[in-house]
This record gives sequence, structure tokens and C-alpha cells, in this order.
Amino acid sequence: MTQIIFKLANGDIKVVQAQNGVNLMLAAVENNISGIKAICNGGCNCATCHVMIEPKFFEKLPSKSPDEQQLLAKIRTKQPTSRLACQIMVTSQMTGMKVIVK
Ligand code: FES
Repeated sequence: MTQIIFKLANGDIKVVQAQNGVNLMLAAVENNISGIKAICNGGCNCATCHVMIEPKFFEKLPSKSPDEQQLLAKIRTKQPTSRLACQIMVTSQMTGMKVIVK
């Protein structure tokens, strides 16, 4: 299990224990993180799992796939550290990672 810290749109902080090997979207949904709708259920089609990743962790994440890049490019609220949570697999290297949900 890996500790992930979500900052919600209302400013609340929620610390969860995410299972390694599942994607960050599922970890959020399983822990009732509000703001992650995941309409396409991880299919990289909806962008309703858009999050911003703490910069020091963002730099270490695996690269975005072309599909993720294309979808992110369409998001008006995209930031330099934006990712789609369904495209990120939780690993122990993410312990303490802060994830901002808009
Ligand atoms: S859940 Fe739809 S793109 Fe991530």
C-alpha cells in the first residue's frame, strides 16, 4: 500500500492508502475522492479523472501515452503538471505524493 495525499477542490485534504499496481483513478474512486467522476472507467476517453501532480513526483512519472497527451490537450484547465489519473499506476515510489483534484 502506498500513501497518497489528495487535495480536493474545496481545499480538504484526504490521505488514502492506495494499492500498488492499481491506477490512481481507481484508488481515488475506491476511497471516495470527490471530483473524480471517471465516466469512461479508465478508457482514456473522458478526462473526468484529470488531476495535477506535485511537481517533484510529476517529473518521475512514466511518460504520457499519445492518447493521454491528446486528451489532456483538450482540457481548458490543464496545468503543466496535469495527468489523467487512470493512466498512472500506483507504485511505492509515490509514497506521500500530493494529487490536486479540481
Ligand atoms: S477515467 Fe476517463 S480518461 Fe480517465
